[in-house]
Amino acid sequence: MPDQPHTQRPPIERVAVLIPTYNERDNLPLIVERVRESVPAADVVVLDDNSPDGTGEVADDMAAADPQVMVIHRQGKEGLGAAYLAGFRWALERGYDAIVEMDADGSHRPEHLSHMLDVAADADLVIGSRYVRGGKIVNWPADRKAISMAGNMYIKLVLGMPVNDATAGYRVYRAETLRTIGLDEVESAGYVFQTDLTVRTVRAGLRVVEVPITFVEREIGDSKMDGDVVRESMTRITRWGLAHRCQQLRRLVDREPTWHRL
Ligand code: GDD
Ligand code: MN
Repeated sequence: MPDQPHTQRPPIERVAVLIPTYNERDNLPLIVERVRESVPAADVVVLDDNSPDGTGEVADDMAAADPQVMVIHRQGKEGLGAAYLAGFRWALERGYDAIVEMDADGSHRPEHLSHMLDVAADADLVIGSRYVRGGKIVNWPADRKAISMAGNMYIKLVLGMPVNDATAGYRVYRAETLRTIGLDEVESAGYVFQTDLTVRTVRAGLRVVEVPITFVEREIGDSKMDGDVVRESMTRITRWGLAHRCQQLRRLVDREPTWHRL
């Protein structure tokens, strides 16, 4: 991938940590406290989809007690990707330099964040990766690990991605990266949103760096991963792969065929 020299990237001063939530009332206070301790300068923005368990009210209480905690209340459960898109737009309008994605359930340790932000000094997207040397997954059942690894293999194969963990949910985006790739055409609503934005970032020629993290499976509450999430991922990735191949073929065919000149 083309590297831009360090000097072309502005310093990261204002950081927004976006935390999407759906039924995370017991996890949220724990994760917010850890983020505030690990990176005290960063603002925390909770993106709640009107969780039936009252996560939104828990978030409101924390926001009332801490000016660096904010909440975006959304109407209902529209998917992880939709919540992040709303959060990205919110943060871009407010002039943050870096925008972080982090799960609410403790799987993404806030203690990795300050290193990831350091790496972002010289990168356009930093991915907290489970699948580079030094990356780990703790407490995932074998079937979940298999789905994740097979998914990433499929993405590499079909889309030719030079990224090992294109589905990862722990990331630092520079604001400029999101502006460059543009968010208006993003349609992915579920977890495939992560892959979608990875592809857009790589294809824009931006610098993606994976840093190893230890992903720890949640101890409280349940995963929101379901059949729809997997189906949306498979359909979209296959479609993108086919579209990419067609584009390559068209380019080949459009070239003036040599036999015309014979
Ligand atoms: N607002 C909102 N709306 N939040 C949601 C929704 C939604 O529809 N669905 C999930 N979330 C939140 C959860 O509350 C949690 O904070 C975070 O998104 C991740 O959801 P989990 O359900 O815990 O995801 P996971 O552990 O199964 O999956 C992890 O690995 C995937 C890749 O293998 C996550 O890190 C994913 O982001 C990642 O793509
Ligand atoms: Mn989780």
